[in-house]
Amino acid sequence: MDSFLTFIGRFHPLIVHLPIGFILLALLLEFSRNKFKEAEKVLIFIMLWVIISGLFSIATGYFQYLQEGYLWETIQAHFYLGLITLLLSIGFYIFLKGGTILNQLPRLFFSLGLLLSIVITGHLGGNITHGEDHLTEPLKELSSTVLGIEKEENEFSLNEKNYREQPIYSGIIAPILSRKCVSCHNTKRTKGGLQMHSYAAFQKGGKNGPIVNYDNPELSELFVRIHLPLEQKKHMPPKSKKQLTKAEIKLMSYWIEVGAPEEQTLGQIGIERNLIEPFLFKEEERFYPELELDAPDPETIKILESKGIIVSPVKRESNFLTLSSLNAPKFSVQQLQNLEGIKEQLVSIDLSYSSVNDSVFIALTKFPNLVQIKLNHTGITGDGIGSLSKLKNLKKLYMVETALKGSELSSIQKFPSIEQVFVFQSNRNLIEKVELTPRLQSIIEFGDYLLPKLPNEENND
Ligand code: HEC
Repeated sequence: MDSFLTFIGRFHPLIVHLPIGFILLALLLEFSRNKFKEAEKVLIFIMLWVIISGLFSIATGYFQYLQEGYLWETIQAHFYLGLITLLLSIGFYIFLKGGTILNQLPRLFFSLGLLLSIVITGHLGGNITHGEDHLTEPLKELSSTVLGIEKEENEFSLNEKNYREQPIYSGIIAPILSRKCVSCHNTKRTKGGLQMHSYAAFQKGGKNGPIVNYDNPELSELFVRIHLPLEQKKHMPPKSKKQLTKAEIKLMSYWIEVGAPEEQTLGQIGIERNLIEPFLFKEEERFYPELELDAPDPETIKILESKGIIVSPVKRESNFLTLSSLNAPKFSVQQLQNLEGIKEQLVSIDLSYSSVNDSVFIALTKFPNLVQIKLNHTGITGDGIGSLSKLKNLKKLYMVETALKGSELSSIQKFPSIEQVFVFQSNRNLIEKVELTPRLQSIIEFGDYLLPKLPNEENND
């Protein structure tokens, strides 16, 4: 019986169009009835069908209300106006038949009354099925595209840095619920008597009481429903709807297990990183600094190029420059002064095989945005390398085949952004001469991937 009523109820949105059509037809005829001889009789006939289809509309509407979990508050205005429309139709029908007290009312009372009530009833009905802004929504979308306003995305705002301070409910649970559950569990549609559009509503639970069992979290209605196999009728969300992901199920389970708190932050409940990981917003790793720079000075570039120095943008349309002196082996530290015009834009410099010496380190600190420095096959010993710690963005440093002294390597420890330093020397083993902290060990590449043997290992072979 239940599903039969649901079935009948689903016809409401279809059936309502019958009385709407009949009423409009009746009104058209009413306003041009002088043109037709039999207008009055036809009107009576049409109004009879308005009444019949109106009765069906109200009945199906009522079943829909009963079966689909709508709240009375949501539908009452629509219901009363539908009823008024029906009463007006009956009134008009009686009026047309003539000979009653109703005939003392002006005819316009019925025709205009019907027009008004059918428009309002229809509009309120539309609001229920499609949401209150269903008429204005396309206008909003239009205006936002025209004005270039970005659509608001309902994305998680958690990232690596801030997630520990976010309350677990508003930061992560609520966004999941609102995407996957709230469409059926809200003030308008309250399936199973359950609302989940707010924490307070959620706590009230559904028709079977609270959905979180604080003593036995795993027996919670909520917990059970999201873990039931998809085929089971009680599985939530229903099979036809967008399902929770594994990560979402794990996270919600954890939240239920710790008592479904609202205010506590992810840090306070000591959430494990792997649970939260899939929800973190990851910024794209950027190799070059995020800076808005002016275009480089073309004059400087022209002069450099005439001397065989290659300057090119790191990628198309970028103002970041990379410079190589490979074709100018006489390039010396003094010539770095000629780069004044591009000192902001220079992010990568390759002075390999050039004639630079240890004074290059201080000279390079003039280029604040350097990310990568190559000094392979030069005469540097590393004296003064510590001054490179001024370069906030320096990530990679190459000093392969140089006169580098192992003792200088320890000052690399202070470089703020350093990721890798390459120091391979083919004719000597630098690694034996230095003692490194674990951090430096992970940064410095000696290029000799065989680990030095420990003394007691030697006996074994
Ligand atoms: C397509 C509509 C729909 C969506 C989406 C939906 N539900 Fe439901 N939910 C229902 C219906 C219908 C019922 C009542 C029938 C039943 O008990 O299975 C219900 C009942 C429930 C109940 C039982 C309430 C009680 O006290 O009996 C819980 C708990 C529940 N849903 C949780 C959820 C969760 C969690 C989500 C999101 C992951 C969700 N639902 C998404 C339709 C929906």
